[in-house]
Amino acid sequence: MDTEHIQRTFVEYFEEHGHRRITGSTLLPPPGGPVLFTTAGMHPLTPYLEGRPHPLGTRLVNVQRCLRTTDLEEVGDATHLTVFEMLGTWSLGDYDGSTSLDWGYGLLTEGLGIDPGLLHATVHGGDDRTGPDTDSLRVWQELGVPVEPTVDANWWSNGPVGPCGPDSEIFLWSGDTPPRSTPTRDERWVEVWNHVMMRYRRLEDGSLVPLPRRNVDTGLGLERLASLLQGRSSVFECDVFDPWRRLVPDLWPLDEPSLRLVYDHLRSAVVVIGDRVRPAATGQGYVLRRLVRRVLTVLWRDDPSRSLGDLPLELVSHTLDHFRQSGEPGDVRRLLLEEERRFGRLLERGRKVLARPRFRGPLREEDFHHLHDTHGLPRELVTGLRPDLGGS
Ligand code: SER
Repeated sequence: MDTEHIQRTFVEYFEEHGHRRITGSTLLPPPGGPVLFTTAGMHPLTPYLEGRPHPLGTRLVNVQRCLRTTDLEEVGDATHLTVFEMLGTWSLGDYDGSTSLDWGYGLLTEGLGIDPGLLHATVHGGDDRTGPDTDSLRVWQELGVPVEPTVDANWWSNGPVGPCGPDSEIFLWSGDTPPRSTPTRDERWVEVWNHVMMRYRRLEDGSLVPLPRRNVDTGLGLERLASLLQGRSSVFECDVFDPWRRLVPDLWPLDEPSLRLVYDHLRSAVVVIGDRVRPAATGQGYVLRRLVRRVLTVLWRDDPSRSLGDLPLELVSHTLDHFRQSGEPGDVRRLLLEEERRFGRLLERGRKVLARPRFRGPLREEDFHHLHDTHGLPRELVTGLRPDLGGS
């Protein structure tokens, strides 16, 4: 079952339950928002979750590309990607959370054929903000799905202010033994779908006020679910990465963790460029720059002659096509190459400057500032050139 098939099954199932499909947005949220990139399917819908009527009604479904830099250090494990797709559904003051969980269970088991014995759920156990989520607990008990109450892990918020609420998460067993233990105690339980009972808005002072409508916001990680359904042990082995796994290891023979970083960061860089971001010293452009530099650091570790100019155009066009982006593959690769040259020049300058006697020993905070302000050498580049300083 490939990712296209999962997407289609998901969208059609919710259309049959009265949802209207909305087009996913780009990775770039409207200016002035709390985040640099869209990190969840609900972002573009924030005004509607806060009460504005949506032109397509109160039941929505979509596929939204997302980018999460909080997970950058975790990329390379079995479940985290920088850019991923989220299949989302929303009830804007329409059906309640129990209905959402019930439909979710129906889609996973009947629609996608998952053995119900491989599912586990978690629910909010109650704290000083809100009581225990007994409605969700009851749904799972009636369906015969084991359920674990937690507190912090079952509260979802969109940053420090904005819509939030208790959630119920659905986990799928990824182990090769029969399922055991619970999601908080055994990481072979992989979270695939989060159902948020989005009933509150958090204000600047940290207090919660009820939203005008009781909404439900759900998000399912497509590549994660696909890899589990395809019986693969990591997201990098699902069909989305087939061309990367076919072409990159011959071009750049690297160990598996490095290959995963290269697949993830280059694919993410292409999508970000496809959404018209350009490398820069701040903001979205800086995230792009970091992705490219992290790739180059890995590529050049044992062969400085490797170049992004050799990146097969097929990988660029496969990624742009997948995300329905209109950029020219050749232009995208040229941009990556320009960024590579800039980084190469910076490293050369960095090596020369760091060879000066003043910078040979331990560096103080003021040295880092001086290197940055006078020589344009960011801290992470300095610690990259001087691993003895303990940076990454
Ligand atoms: N907003 C929730 C999440 O990102 C559910 O979509 O997990």
